Amino acid sequence: MRGGPGGGTADAGIVFHIQTDRRSDGQGGRNAMKAGFIGAGRVGVTMGAYFQSKGWPVTGYASRNPGSARHAADVTGSIAFDSPEELASASDLLLLTVPDDALPGVWEELKAFWPEGSARKILSHTSGSLTSRVFTDAAALGVLTCSIHPMFSFQHRDGRTQGLDNAFFSIEGDAAALKFIQPRIEALGNRVLVLKPEMKVKYHIASVTASNFVTALMDLACRLMQECGIGEADSLAALGPLAECNLAGVLDKGIARSLTGPVERCDAGTVERQMQALSGRELELYRILSGILVEISQRKHPERNFSGLKDRLNQTGNRSDG
Ligand SMILES: NC(=O)c1ccc[n+]([C@@H]2O[C@H](COP(=O)([O-])OP(=O)(O)OC[C@H]3O[C@@H](n4cnc5c(N)ncnc54)[C@H](OP(=O)(O)O)[C@@H]3O)[C@@H](O)[C@H]2O)c1
Repeated sequence: MRGGPGGGTADAGIVFHIQTDRRSDGQGGRNAMKAGFIGAGRVGVTMGAYFQSKGWPVTGYASRNPGSARHAADVTGSIAFDSPEELASASDLLLLTVPDDALPGVWEELKAFWPEGSARKILSHTSGSLTSRVFTDAAALGVLTCSIHPMFSFQHRDGRTQGLDNAFFSIEGDAAALKFIQPRIEALGNRVLVLKPEMKVKYHIASVTASNFVTALMDLACRLMQECGIGEADSLAALGPLAECNLAGVLDKGIARSLTGPVERCDAGTVERQMQALSGRELELYRILSGILVEISQRKHPERNFSGLKDRLNQTGNRSDG
């Protein structure tokens, strides 16, 4: 571990900044960096509302659909621009909050009209997996580039920002851009991870695993409940407190120390009955996830012998299959 800028620490290339001084000022003064958004969707509207609420000035929005830009401008008290070029001219920081696959095309169009005299503007996107290298030829135009990924699940475009205060933001890109961006995000009260470009794909898989895959597992749990005759709303009501309490334990005590359940107890009979009740994709998933639970359990209980359980989980198919 080594000291990072701003008093942070670094490990394996990640500079980890813990901001303890949760100021909400410092954005609108002499060094104000006016932020404009291309793409008035969930992230664009919510981040704009969040910036405004913390005193970080927002110029406004341009979007594919003018109605979306007008809605975002209304929500944030900013301006709907007719063209991305006008928005770029009026902004110091331009955030492309469009779907990942649209980014190269939006940049290609923008590049052709990139406003003259706008060197030292900062151009960014909010994709978790793409890097700032998507902005090809930006350096030749004198534009500083980065990516700013809020580690948050944006589900609305009505300006609500609840929970965003606690989110980490990961940033990647030109050192000169990060030097401007990092203190401004920290001044919002958010913590910052500085990533190298080559880390982004795996970093994003981690984010997807901790959020979208949990949704997939909740869907699987609800379908099993459905097979017991319990509908989705009742299933979520019943499974919700269990899931929340489990996650609270993981966050509080750590992964191995919080683990409970049949694998951790080495209850081979229970695992066998559960495998007998499943087939196909569900059985495969059960085997793979339980295999990971065996590894965690072994870390928690080095003295216990999990080899029988491990062998059973390594057998493909259900014993009754054949
Ligand atoms: N949602 C999340 O939880 C989340 C979290 C972190 C990062 N991100 C990243 O943030 C970015 C935006 O995601 P999102 O969830 O906000 O997407 P979204 O809700 O689908 O919004 C994207 C917006 O981009 C606009 N758009 C699409 N193509 C465009 C184009 N060619 N030119 C101009 N505007 C265009 C659309 O505007 P119109 O309404 O005008 O058609 C749409 O409202 C993505 O890179 C995503 O990976 C998302």
